[in-house]
Amino acid sequence: MQRLLSVEGSAPDEVVRFERVSKRFGPELLALNEVSLSVRAGEVAVLLGLSGSGKSTLLRHVDGLQRPSSGSVTVLGTDVGRRGGSELRRLRRRIGFVFQQFHLVGSLTVLENVCTGALGGLRGPRLGLFSYPKAVRHEALGHLERVGLADRAFQRADTLSGGQQQRVAVARALMQNPEILLADEPVASLDPETSAQVMSLIREISAERKLTVLCSLHQVDLALSWGDRVIGLRAGCVVLDTPVAGLGRDEAMSLYSRVGALPVAAAV
Ligand SMILES: Nc1ncnc2c1ncn2[C@@H]1O[C@H](COP(=O)(O)OP(=O)(O)OP(=O)(O)O)[C@@H](O)[C@H]1O
Ligand SMILES: [Mg+2]
Repeated sequence: MQRLLSVEGSAPDEVVRFERVSKRFGPELLALNEVSLSVRAGEVAVLLGLSGSGKSTLLRHVDGLQRPSSGSVTVLGTDVGRRGGSELRRLRRRIGFVFQQFHLVGSLTVLENVCTGALGGLRGPRLGLFSYPKAVRHEALGHLERVGLADRAFQRADTLSGGQQQRVAVARALMQNPEILLADEPVASLDPETSAQVMSLIREISAERKLTVLCSLHQVDLALSWGDRVIGLRAGCVVLDTPVAGLGRDEAMSLYSRVGALPVAAAV
């Protein structure tokens, strides 16, 4: 099963590189255990694994929300674990993040929610849609068109369905013109049909912009349908790292079996 990508020497279009990354929370808990992987520009890499296996922790290392206890994380050429302050903020502007709970401001219009994605590049606070420069509003509308929701621009965000809200969250992330999109269980609260729509949208946008996507999911079928590559975690170790092409459903499902040991890639 083990097909760990070699991280010896960086590939020219490598955007994310973990080298023997371990993350310890207290003396007992090793959330990531010697994780090594490399993600290329434009790749859609799906993280699979049981609850608590370390998927969110891994994603949070990519934009420096968490720092490795040992090992190194290099993202877009920046050593995330060793950088702070303005350098980390600059890096974060190049990374979009979408979450299971969308995190929209329900009382604001859809369009204003999308505009907030530009805040990292603007000076000073903004209050109300017209406090954003016209170019920002225009761009936000373009992203709403892209996700198929331009007709909802002036509706309150909390009046949209879950799938629509997640598409707005994707549009908001696009305001950063990100090079990497991190998606932590972006479809966990959606029904199967809507989940497929959102994953399909993320996949299309990745292809259009050569946007690198790291996405955690629990649905193996979605991973096989929309991912380029599956990275399987178990107890903080990478136990599977393989292109989706040629990956069998049973092999992917075995990540969710609680019995039986999988080969531990990180030990190789
Ligand atoms: N800030 C933290 N402090 C202490 N422990 C943490 C922290 N963040 C994560 N953990 C622990 O690290 C382990 C991995 O958690 P993580 O959230 O990465 O799992 P996950 O694979 O995303 O799970 P799920 O599928 O439930 O979202 C868990 O045991 C979790 O309790
Ligand atoms: Mg998680």
